[in-house]
Amino acid sequence: MRKPFIAGNWKMNLDLSEAVKLASGLKEELAGVTDLDIGVFPSAILLPDVVDALTGSGIVVGAQNMHNEEKGAFTGEISGPMIKSAGATHVILGHSERRHVFGESDELVNLKLKAAHKFGLSPIVCVGEKLEEREADRTAAIVERQVKAAFDGISREPAEATVIAYEPVWAIGTGRTATPEQANEVHVIIRRLLARLYDDELANGFRIQYGGSVKPENATALMAQPDVDGFLVGGASLKVDSFVGIIRY
Ligand code: 13P
Repeated sequence: MRKPFIAGNWKMNLDLSEAVKLASGLKEELAGVTDLDIGVFPSAILLPDVVDALTGSGIVVGAQNMHNEEKGAFTGEISGPMIKSAGATHVILGHSERRHVFGESDELVNLKLKAAHKFGLSPIVCVGEKLEEREADRTAAIVERQVKAAFDGISREPAEATVIAYEPVWAIGTGRTATPEQANEVHVIIRRLLARLYDDELANGFRIQYGGSVKPENATALMAQPDVDGFLVGGASLKVDSFVGIIRY
């Protein structure tokens, strides 16, 4: 009922020729895969070339971040209309590295989510607790706070067109994956919250990805969980074999 969505967040990796090579490899390997949505999120400077390399593939392309304003004196920033003009259709917002390395607040993520909708980009909003928050039994409270704040003032239609990625901070880049049960438990918490904020129909159709050390070896067990609707993959999305291995879970 929910079409799985598997996305690769390339983070600050790959130069132009490496990115085009990876994109071309994915296009070739994944031709004919239509039972799930696939996306890649290269560095913004590589977007036009990756879009070109993937033309006709069905693989969507997005940016890893954006500014909430349309334009102006924001040196070094990238706007939604710029991302669109590069041919991309999606954007990741509030990634844990944006929140915890660059200090993005819940309020800023909310402004960015509104801007993504306004500029016609499909957003993936990331949420997730830190290790000390999990150990203090605060996972549900943290994730609920992040989702509520991100969706504050967002009406049903744009909300429905959004994807959430649950990425526990302690599982990102650490090789330490949440167990399938741990992931599903938080996805259920998010889905129930969406039902309260909107309604059951929206919540039941809403895609929630898991992210954090996803590999071909753990993809099948994670995807077997009823509320896991795909992945946001970091390290393992940088090679054709491992990303395709995850997609063929
Ligand atoms: P890893 O898959 O490298 O743990 O990264 C996850 C992530 O942050 C994807 O956005």
